[in-house]
Amino acid sequence: MTSTQRIELPDGVRTNGADPNPWWANSVVYQIYPRSFQDTNGDGIGDLKGITSRLDYLARLGVDVIWLSPVYKSPQDDNGYDIADYRQIDPMFGTMDDMDELLATAHRLGMKVVMDLVVNHTSDEHPWFQASRDANDPHADWYWWRPAKPGHEPGTPGAEPNHWGSYFGGSAWQYDAKRGEYYLHQFSKKQPDLNWENPEVRHAVYDMMNWWMDRGIDGFRMDVITLISKHLGPNGEMEDGEIGPEGYSNVYWFCEDGPRLDEFLQEMHREVFDGREGYLTVGEGTGIDGGPRDEFITDPRNRELDMLFVFTHLDIDHGEGGKWTPKPMRLTDLKRTMAAQQNAVASHGWASIFLDNHDQPRVVSRWGDTTTDELRVKSAKALALLAHLHRGTPYIYQGEELGMTNAGFTRLDQYRDLESINMYHQRVDEAKVESAEDMMAGLAAQSRDNARTPMQWDSTPYAGFTAADAPAKPWIEVNPNHTTINAEDEVADPDSVFAFYQRLIELRHTNPIVAAGDWKLLDPDDEQVYDFLRSLPEENPEERRSLLVIVNCGSTSAHIPHDAAELIHGAVDASRIVLSTTDPDMAAASLLLGKLSPWEGIVYQL
Ligand code: NOJ
Repeated sequence: MTSTQRIELPDGVRTNGADPNPWWANSVVYQIYPRSFQDTNGDGIGDLKGITSRLDYLARLGVDVIWLSPVYKSPQDDNGYDIADYRQIDPMFGTMDDMDELLATAHRLGMKVVMDLVVNHTSDEHPWFQASRDANDPHADWYWWRPAKPGHEPGTPGAEPNHWGSYFGGSAWQYDAKRGEYYLHQFSKKQPDLNWENPEVRHAVYDMMNWWMDRGIDGFRMDVITLISKHLGPNGEMEDGEIGPEGYSNVYWFCEDGPRLDEFLQEMHREVFDGREGYLTVGEGTGIDGGPRDEFITDPRNRELDMLFVFTHLDIDHGEGGKWTPKPMRLTDLKRTMAAQQNAVASHGWASIFLDNHDQPRVVSRWGDTTTDELRVKSAKALALLAHLHRGTPYIYQGEELGMTNAGFTRLDQYRDLESINMYHQRVDEAKVESAEDMMAGLAAQSRDNARTPMQWDSTPYAGFTAADAPAKPWIEVNPNHTTINAEDEVADPDSVFAFYQRLIELRHTNPIVAAGDWKLLDPDDEQVYDFLRSLPEENPEERRSLLVIVNCGSTSAHIPHDAAELIHGAVDASRIVLSTTDPDMAAASLLLGKLSPWEGIVYQL
């Protein structure tokens, strides 16, 4: 069976009430950040033709779905998460014909394509916002407009309607001289929030979504979709919160999981997805933890979303000053947060599994070990095994399958991300809550640009991302380690991180326990070994089929902890090693001796 052939899951096994089994229960999604994937026209920026030219690589990896970060027309203030026209491709990425070709080629190769949907906000250059700047225009109420604070001259310092601070630094309010009022932007001032209370806004969004679905795309990844309904006072008041050391209160307390979120998502489902088949929806679940709300939103009976990205496990290394003051992660915190996410959707709903994306540092640098290349490879495989053996749909972020590392930037002028640059100025120059040195260390560890350096295809000067003699350099520096970490070498090497990801994907396609079994954490207090059990119930409990998953998450050897050791019982059959990061004979010996080598991960059939 090739890696693209997938088994049908037995009905009722794990569908949480959805019948028949959803196709994404044993699918793997691959996220592409188009501007950093493959440049074909030499402008230093990736494009759609580049993606199409690399689809055979993704088919070879074995993924089922591609999620494209935004390629719509945009001034690119936030790399396309600021959309000026939802129905046009930005010329930087190509044309609508290029998009159609990408879609057709992906479909021919058996892969679905999911687009990013960014509708909490538009660009300030979107015609809807431009029209909204006139208080008499029919679009006047499409965004969140508020007058200056009483007693203050509009547009003067301190006249903002309240102290809400934006995610990207500074006030969440921007004064517009034409309208004489302020508009809300949770993100940059070029990303005004849409007013979802207005039914015209909602229906314009649904029309656009239907237009894309009718063109043949296979669903949406929905950007910060859990921020669309705002918590308002009885008369539409937007109340201030506690003001922090940087002079702002948290805008997200008032925008996360607002009172009308379920209503809006159900309406969207009715208007766009009812009657369609074979699509996937995944919402960025900002502010939703692994708990009852995750279950509710993803429970198919509620007709909202197929799954959410829950972020609780990626907050565990954030220190007192948030992500810019990182602290070492504790494995028990990872277990606790993952267990909460897994358990939340154990009976109803579904999980997405991810350690990397375009907003996160590279996991191998973050939680693995990059001090030597050998340890990098081992830890990348161990973390991959750990993630992909959970219950849910795994997401791979471009380059993760190669064990790509953080950018290694040491100067502010190497960064391109507006969040990184704005937060540096806010924290170091304005509020002076952090020294320049500490903030540079925070950026090196946590900046989103760590994930955005060009894809490393080969060892040529620009890593094959763009031609070595291209007229323009890549928009962001290529990681110099592309000479040793690149796709060309890894595809040819059966022991590479890439080859290991191929096996993980194949396992999910072919093994019903991986795809459908329930999940149970073992040894919750062990700080070095992450172990759990995946099981499919049989009619006869004696025949319950289980996989034991054990991962040493450290660069020293580790004893197999109590719960796992009890299940192994000292009797090991090498033919039951389903997958391991080390050679199967070595893995069997480790199980027998009760001791794992550094970053050794084993899947064992009980
Ligand atoms: C979440 C996206 O993943 C991120 O890249 C973007 O900056 C914000 N939403 C705003 O759209």
